[in-house]
Amino acid sequence: MNFQQIFGTTPEVEATAPGRVNLLGEHTDYNDGFVLPIAIPQRTKVELGLSQDTQYHFYSQELEEMVSVASKSLTPEGFASYIFGCIQLLAKQGYKIPAINLYVTSTVPIGVGLSSSAALEVATLKGLRSLLNLPIDDVQIAQIGQQAEIQYAGLNCGIMDQMASSLAGTHSMLFLDTRTLERRTLELPAGGEILVIDSGVNHALAAGSGYNQRRVECEEAARLLGVKALRDITNPQVAQSLPEPLCRRARHVITENNRVLEAISGISISRFGELMNASHASQRDDYEVSVPAVDALADILQRTPAVYGARLTGGGFGGACVALIAEGKSAIATDVLRQYNELGYSGQVLVAAK
Ligand code: GLA
Repeated sequence: MNFQQIFGTTPEVEATAPGRVNLLGEHTDYNDGFVLPIAIPQRTKVELGLSQDTQYHFYSQELEEMVSVASKSLTPEGFASYIFGCIQLLAKQGYKIPAINLYVTSTVPIGVGLSSSAALEVATLKGLRSLLNLPIDDVQIAQIGQQAEIQYAGLNCGIMDQMASSLAGTHSMLFLDTRTLERRTLELPAGGEILVIDSGVNHALAAGSGYNQRRVECEEAARLLGVKALRDITNPQVAQSLPEPLCRRARHVITENNRVLEAISGISISRFGELMNASHASQRDDYEVSVPAVDALADILQRTPAVYGARLTGGGFGGACVALIAEGKSAIATDVLRQYNELGYSGQVLVAAK
């Protein structure tokens, strides 16, 4: 059923936003650090029009679900929480947001670490900006989207995903300093392309998950080390004075920031791949956000010829691996999946160059 069949009118505007895959710089954004995401081809689209009554109506094509709320309602659950959060935050900034109909459709896979929620937030905000002529720019959209995620969906996230969804393209990496929001677009290492494979183990990051716990640990580590954020430390030895597990959490963040900075310094593609492999080990051993299925998938990828490097991407606790592979070699995915499935898992290719 399309917008017209659901709402009985045609939409007035539409907007889209992509998911993202992060190449390096994981769990660094809420430590004021550095990240290196790139947009993926999969996008979320919202169509919008004014509502005929006083309620907001949100419809998800994938879930075949309608959620109707008033502006004073409690936050709804699920996909509607992100949309509702964006509307409430705009209203808190003083914008008058009339009751609307909003129809969502998306090809961004959910629960695999490719930022389906940021894509929904950014598409919603861009749709509202265009419907209501709001004077907000793409960075403000990312900032409001991040707050929607934190205040209405319960994930105490950083700003990487929303910045990537709002500003990144699918052909170049977005290097972002999450403290200053200074950014640069950079080409992928020459001769390389990206392959993303889902482990088949879904992640669930929000309230109660290890994600928010990791953020608390990092803030505690920064406090004990006397810095504003772990970004302010560059020597991993400094973390050794911390108690367990804070020393390993801090070591991951410090070494990961160093890896991003090295990655953008004009290194070879093989060194870039080594940094990705080291990032995976650090996420697995120091940050403890991987799971056995993802470790097995990363291991197979790392042992496959034509793969320069591979690592868990996104928030972790399940999800997908990103690999940097030699250009034109995405057919290796067949053999990777065969080996992975032989271990009893069920993976699938999510992103591969054509
Ligand atoms: C999730 C969060 C991001 C970031 C990553 C981990 O995707 O939304 O802010 O912290 O995890 O790098």
